[in-house]
Amino acid sequence: MPGVGRWKRGLRSLQRSLRPRFLYHGQVNLTVASDHGGFPLKARIIEELQRLGHQVTDLGTNSAVPVDYPDYACNVAREILAGRATRAVLICGSGAGACVAANKFRGIRAATCHDSFSARQCVEDDDCNVLCLGARVIGPELAADLARIYVNAKFSGAERHRRRIGKIAAFEAEFGK
Ligand code: RB5
Repeated sequence: MPGVGRWKRGLRSLQRSLRPRFLYHGQVNLTVASDHGGFPLKARIIEELQRLGHQVTDLGTNSAVPVDYPDYACNVAREILAGRATRAVLICGSGAGACVAANKFRGIRAATCHDSFSARQCVEDDDCNVLCLGARVIGPELAADLARIYVNAKFSGAERHRRRIGKIAAFEAEFGK
């Protein structure tokens, strides 16, 4: 039936025109990186963020061969500071070393969060642009939940939080030379 083909094509075109509006509403450019300790978790985090409709860049590492987490923290920080990503998820074994390294970059606010309260509040109050996770500390499904909570959270913009973040920026200006 010739009419059926035309009807199906019309339906597909309607689906295509609706998809960007609904699927990509609130889309965020994200970047994800890990060292070898975080590598087993990275694919699950990327899958979760893409499932939510976000644009995700994978900055490695791409195997369990030992690497140095500061290199990956640096790549993530550069991506954010250059404006190519708004937020990042950075994974190492404990979530500690990568967080310390990322916080050395002016303008980066990284937090290791292994509970949902912190994953949300580190954005709402502290406007954290990097979530750090420890792949040797939490399982993949909790980690995926935390990544989802983190990217869905919005900075409150409250004056007291702006003031506190401003003080951190002043530390960077004074001591981070
Ligand atoms: C690597 O063995 C491990 O030290 C690293 O992934 C991270 O946990 C450091 O804090």
